[in-house]
Amino acid sequence: MHTALNTSLTDALGCDYPVIQTAMGWVSTAQLVTASIEAGAFGFLAAAVMSPEECEAEIKLIKSKTDKPFGVNIHAFQQGIDKIIDMCIDYDVAALSYGRGPSPKIVEKVKAAGLKCVPTIGASKHASKAVKMGADILVCQGQEGGGHTGATPTWLLLAQVIDQNLGVPVVACGGFKDGRGLAAALTFGADGIAMGTRFMMSSDSPTPDATKAEYLKSDVLKIPVSTKLDGLPQRMVLNGTLSDLEKSSKLGMLIRAMQNGMKYKSQTGMSMGQTIKTAWGMASKTDMTLGQTMMAGNAPMIIQKAMVEGKPDEGVLPSGQIAGLIDDLPSCADIVGKIVSDAEASLKRVGA
Ligand SMILES: Cc1cc2nc3c(=O)[nH]c(=O)nc-3n(C[C@H](O)[C@H](O)[C@H](O)COP(=O)(O)O)c2cc1C
Repeated sequence: MHTALNTSLTDALGCDYPVIQTAMGWVSTAQLVTASIEAGAFGFLAAAVMSPEECEAEIKLIKSKTDKPFGVNIHAFQQGIDKIIDMCIDYDVAALSYGRGPSPKIVEKVKAAGLKCVPTIGASKHASKAVKMGADILVCQGQEGGGHTGATPTWLLLAQVIDQNLGVPVVACGGFKDGRGLAAALTFGADGIAMGTRFMMSSDSPTPDATKAEYLKSDVLKIPVSTKLDGLPQRMVLNGTLSDLEKSSKLGMLIRAMQNGMKYKSQTGMSMGQTIKTAWGMASKTDMTLGQTMMAGNAPMIIQKAMVEGKPDEGVLPSGQIAGLIDDLPSCADIVGKIVSDAEASLKRVGA
């Protein structure tokens, strides 16, 4: 292997190659994580959308198939977070990833247990704060990236963060799919790449075939960022559901959110009155309208329509713009294998 592929990231995480498979709700399950880590990448289980019981079952499943290290992704405010943290420590999980950081006490606890803290940041001003709050590795996601995303393009964010010399490995994220991207990131000064969409668009991801077919058809210019799903900028494939959301007025949004509230009542377990009360509480503390906060409550169900139920027209498809450049669904082994050989070829070509 080209020595440039041995980086501070592979040293810190104990993976073969400087490639991270990121957490994607309902996508980065034990099935995908097992495949990506067996292929030599480092994978994160998307536990931010799991209960502690679901998370434990998935961790056990990974451990029953492989002894390679992997990480768990959490959300600081999810239900059962303390149980999940203890579980990560008990099961000897190698790393914890998150957007909004957990409390300093939790960070201290997991670090004392030897887990690496791997936050994703979307703006340069968050880099030094994240390191002060205990980050061992920084994943810098540029605006091209999938799901919730910031406004700075990947290469600009990367330059801003690398130039701060924060003393931790920096990982380029948002818009990567191949070996030349990895080689470019390494020569730019990053210590590796992280990818979501590319791993979701693999034969190993649990995403239903009908939904994968929509990703394969997507166009790089038709994967916009919208705040209409949950009030935060989120990049998704432009389908009928997203177009309708984008066109909604404030009143239209409220009506749509109420309709969804009725539709998903059995899944949320909340009556319409409870939904409105919860949404109103949230709206009064943020800049969001009542319709937006109600819609945010329904967002997980709308995403699951596409990502779990295989009804892409009825749901939304979180995606990086890179989906527009991807036209195949290889296994994780093939994805990682080709990334490594192409990165080596690129590095040799430049060296020559
Ligand atoms: C389908 C999908 C679901 C995602 N879900 C999550 C999530 O639950 N938690 C999270 O931190 N990031 C989530 N993301 C963001 C990814 O982890 C990753 O940061 C992003 O996809 C990187 O950009 P790329 O898609 O260009 O590789 C999601 C992205 C996608 C495409």
